[in-house]
Amino acid sequence: MSSKDSALVAPSHVSAIAPYQPGKPIEELAREYGLDPSGIVKLASNENPLGMPASAQAAIAQAVAGLGRYPDAAGFELKAALSARYGVPQDWLTLGNGSNDILEIVALALLEPGASVVYSRHAFVVYRLATQARGARHIMVPTRDLGHDLDAMLEAIAPDTRLVYIANPNNPTGSFLSREAIETFLAAVAGRHGTRVTVVLDEAYNEYLEPELRFDSVALVRKYPNLLVSRTFSKAYGLAGLRVGFAVAQPALTDLLNRVRQPFNVNSLAQVAAIAALKDTEFLERSFQVNRDGKVQLQTAFDRLGLTYVPSYANFVLVKVGDAARINLELLKRGVIVRPVAGDGLPEWLRVSIGLPEENARFIDALSEILGSRQP
Ligand SMILES: Cc1ncc(COP(=O)(O)O)c(C=O)c1O
Repeated sequence: MSSKDSALVAPSHVSAIAPYQPGKPIEELAREYGLDPSGIVKLASNENPLGMPASAQAAIAQAVAGLGRYPDAAGFELKAALSARYGVPQDWLTLGNGSNDILEIVALALLEPGASVVYSRHAFVVYRLATQARGARHIMVPTRDLGHDLDAMLEAIAPDTRLVYIANPNNPTGSFLSREAIETFLAAVAGRHGTRVTVVLDEAYNEYLEPELRFDSVALVRKYPNLLVSRTFSKAYGLAGLRVGFAVAQPALTDLLNRVRQPFNVNSLAQVAAIAALKDTEFLERSFQVNRDGKVQLQTAFDRLGLTYVPSYANFVLVKVGDAARINLELLKRGVIVRPVAGDGLPEWLRVSIGLPEENARFIDALSEILGSRQP
């Protein structure tokens, strides 16, 4: 076979995609450095350090015997629980294989070559991946203080723009936009562009916000037919490995999403676990508290070490360490995995997920040692 015969043919916008880089798995680091996996601390993927709630584990155990059947394609029971929780009819809800799936489904429903998407620089990387996969053009808007600059994003909307992605709080920066800022933006987009431009408000880290900062984004969905709010069970609910997320949008937009969604995109175990987790308010509260304490622990240490960081509204902190590649390598040698973010245009920074107190302490000790400034 000649090399010509074996050449794969793919659209150039697909070949051009730089694939998603996940956090380094514990087992991989253990193999590379000959370390004991049980002593490795992973603070790289914004996972819930409490693990999976026991309530969800029990629900899964009960549902395992039914796995010979396909999942409920409509996700009736989970949608019923979400419908009661958020006060919207079921035809306002779309389930996703993680909220990542929702972000992709919107792109699949609305984009095509010749369309454009507006999002912020240093925003969640999947916005770029979803845009590129559809052959659409991105309009990446510079940040203001490493947060979304909504004024500039509004001005950046072009005649061919179909979609705007906003992460609130944002990953990897941890920045947050107030209700007022979001409402002003939505009103301006609707005033200038009507429903031609859909806004995706990605609230993956919403449950980590202080209560006084949380706002009823579903009320905004009632007001704006071009708004989609996405949420996930991967973070505060502790179900990252199961992959469940959902979208709230008015029926016309939801109907479009359902035309391109895979019929069985959320598996049976994920559906029952999400229902159990949604009811488990005690676990959710504990997730919030552990995160709030860990955030203080990390940010206090960064203050002591004289490091700049972005005050976080999520379950991770972005910290400026200078030669992040070297410091990351030194952390790895000490069995601590964090996330370098050079690929997000932040070569001097590391993103550290908030762990249990002892995990945070391991990271702080290792970082202090590397920076040559011992803890008092
Ligand atoms: C801002 C943001 N949105 C969405 C996601 C997707 O998460 P999942 O697919 O696990 O719901 C993430 C994951 O890290 C994220 O940071």
